[in-house]
Amino acid sequence: MVKNANHQKVMLIGDGAVGSSYAYAMALQGVAEEFGIIDIAKERTIGDALDLEDATAFSFPKKIYSAEYADCKDADLVVITAGAPQKPGETRLDLVNKNLGILSTIVKPIVESGFDGIFLVAANPVDILTYATWKLSGFPKHKVIGSGPSLDTARLRAAIAKMTGINDPRSIHAFIMGEHGDSEFAAYSAATIGGKPFLDWAQENNITAAQLDEMEDQVRNKAYEIINRKGATFYGVATALARISKAILRDEGAVLPVSAYMDGQYGLNDIYIGTPGVVDGNGLRQIIEVPLNEAEQAKMTASAATLKQVLTDGMN
Ligand code: LAC
Repeated sequence: MVKNANHQKVMLIGDGAVGSSYAYAMALQGVAEEFGIIDIAKERTIGDALDLEDATAFSFPKKIYSAEYADCKDADLVVITAGAPQKPGETRLDLVNKNLGILSTIVKPIVESGFDGIFLVAANPVDILTYATWKLSGFPKHKVIGSGPSLDTARLRAAIAKMTGINDPRSIHAFIMGEHGDSEFAAYSAATIGGKPFLDWAQENNITAAQLDEMEDQVRNKAYEIINRKGATFYGVATALARISKAILRDEGAVLPVSAYMDGQYGLNDIYIGTPGVVDGNGLRQIIEVPLNEAEQAKMTASAATLKQVLTDGMN
């Protein structure tokens, strides 16, 4: 729970494109009263803090500064974006060894600062790095959350909005689940529009299974499309991180797609993987176990098996 409801404090670890975009999103939204930026590129964090200070002059005056790990002590939330981003042709899982190495230098000083808030992890492969953050920190699993399928779900909802002509993606209740990566899938059977099953709408509007598969593929591969064109993705994930941060700092109790620790849900154990969950000031209050059909459950099981294999290889 936030220590001081009138003064939420966030520490960002990693001031690359994603981290800097997240800081900008948080500054514009005025979500936190105090925002520290930690990165090995110290000069960059000072420059970014000064630049963001200018931005908040037009929105909400906030305390934004270049920080040290000791500043994590009384933070409510630590967001980890530090890590190498995908290059064209790279999968997120390809980053595991390099980014586990970076993560192992980050978590220890955060915990040693006396930090006892919530960890929000975004560095890829995010499900693996969230699990590693949980292990390395020794924190209770509900206080370690990954951004997981939050961005993918936004991509799916936007695609369904375009398909249906219902232009507000917030009116589409649909989730991407599983790995934030190549084994993710759309839980179409649980998707609804205004309470109406999306698959019923699709059938009534002659949308074929092939078209649904194509939409799922487009969502699953959108990051590659962006990376091939502009070299990286950052605005989408940064805004997704700001959304999850707000649910934590405002103690919302919002249902959001995140990477969460499985304790038997979906028949899975000892893995972080993407599912809807209730996010509040204490972190992940509960997992919402979506009723999956047989094909979707098989995809969830296969996705978890992929992550387990990488986890086993990567953590040894
Ligand atoms: C993406 C990155 C954040 O999906 O994995 O854009």
